[in-house]
Amino acid sequence: MRVSIGAGWCYDGRGEIVHTRRSALAALAGAPLAWTCPALSREHSQTTPSLAAAARTRGCYFGAAVRIDQIEADPGLRNMVLRDCSALAPEIHFKWDQLEPREGHHIFNAADGLADFAHAHGLALRGHTLLWDQSTPRWAKSQLLHERDWTLVARHFEIVLSRYRDRVREWDVVNEPIDSESGEAGLRANAFLRTFGPGYIGRALTEARRLAPDACLMINDYGFDYDNPVEAKRRRSMLRLVERLKREGAPLDGIGVQAHLDLSKGPFRPAPVREFLQELAQFGIEIVITEFDVRESDRSAPLDLRDRRVADEARAYLEVALDQPAVRGVVTWGLSDRHSWLQDQRRGLPRVEAARSLNRGLPYDAAFNPKPMYWSMHEAFRKV
Ligand code: G3I
Repeated sequence: MRVSIGAGWCYDGRGEIVHTRRSALAALAGAPLAWTCPALSREHSQTTPSLAAAARTRGCYFGAAVRIDQIEADPGLRNMVLRDCSALAPEIHFKWDQLEPREGHHIFNAADGLADFAHAHGLALRGHTLLWDQSTPRWAKSQLLHERDWTLVARHFEIVLSRYRDRVREWDVVNEPIDSESGEAGLRANAFLRTFGPGYIGRALTEARRLAPDACLMINDYGFDYDNPVEAKRRRSMLRLVERLKREGAPLDGIGVQAHLDLSKGPFRPAPVREFLQELAQFGIEIVITEFDVRESDRSAPLDLRDRRVADEARAYLEVALDQPAVRGVVTWGLSDRHSWLQDQRRGLPRVEAARSLNRGLPYDAAFNPKPMYWSMHEAFRKV
């Protein structure tokens, strides 16, 4: 039994991805790209500029979060990345727990590998991320909480920023500091807040500025995208934080808006996001859409319908974001559904069923065919 997963490709009964059309194979192999857009134009092939080229028409860069091990293992992914991106974000390699899983034992292979790959191909590299509670190694958290010693953070910044200073232009210095539900005055009660108080964010930015004076220093967070009370509060908390940091003279250059869209929270309404981005921009800072993807709410619907819903949500969001002149980049969190963090890790599902249940919230499907989301992003970038 075969299950179609997109133009020309399907999962066979044994769980393998197989091609049913030669054109799809050519695309996978990175042949000159004259693609047939399955959803928008079945009959007509068209040569399509890359997403990076489309984004450039709006003065933006386009990139994706990737892992170097996946790029090296998968020529199809490598080709896609080189075709479509002008920037990369390390999905995991730059995080503290990956770089220093045991105190003093640094592992730079993957981060260096990705930095070298980006450099070799002329791609910009985002620094994601210096300080994030969730990716702080357990040994460091317990030391922070017991010894209350900032030098541990300062040493981490020193090591990472001095190593990658010349390769990375833009850093997520602090990741996900907002929590309007159970935090303290809108801030997440993480190890850093509990140890150093709300001043830890400004302190981290100042530390980063000292070590990377030319870099764009950012705070990156999620949950600003929908018209509901929880996200409205989150938007207000972020604006309050930016206002305070600016008042205190902290070296904050930009905000990363993750934009993990979620169809169960929709439909997307433009006004709240438009206002939020405008208010951020009024602080004179830059904005990057840093982790763009779409979580589906109904994976049992026909594939065409699922893809249309995802594409429409992506387009609606980007049209608003790209209207804001302070937005100067869009990064998707992965490029193909094959490598999306949104995939179920449910074990025991029959393989065909598991294949159909893959979330389809990135521009390319699991067999590396561009989906309607790819084309709707194109259209949003190129809209004048
Ligand atoms: O590499 C180890 C492997 O050796 C080990 O056997 C395995 C056991 O769990 O873990 C592997 O590491 C995992 C890593 O992904 C690579 O697969 C980590 O446990 C796991 O926590 C990590 O998840 C990443 C997560 O951030 C935490 O770093 C996700 O891939 C990544 O997509 C996600 O990205 C975050 C952004 O940084 C911030 N915003 C939200 C976004 C999605 O959660």
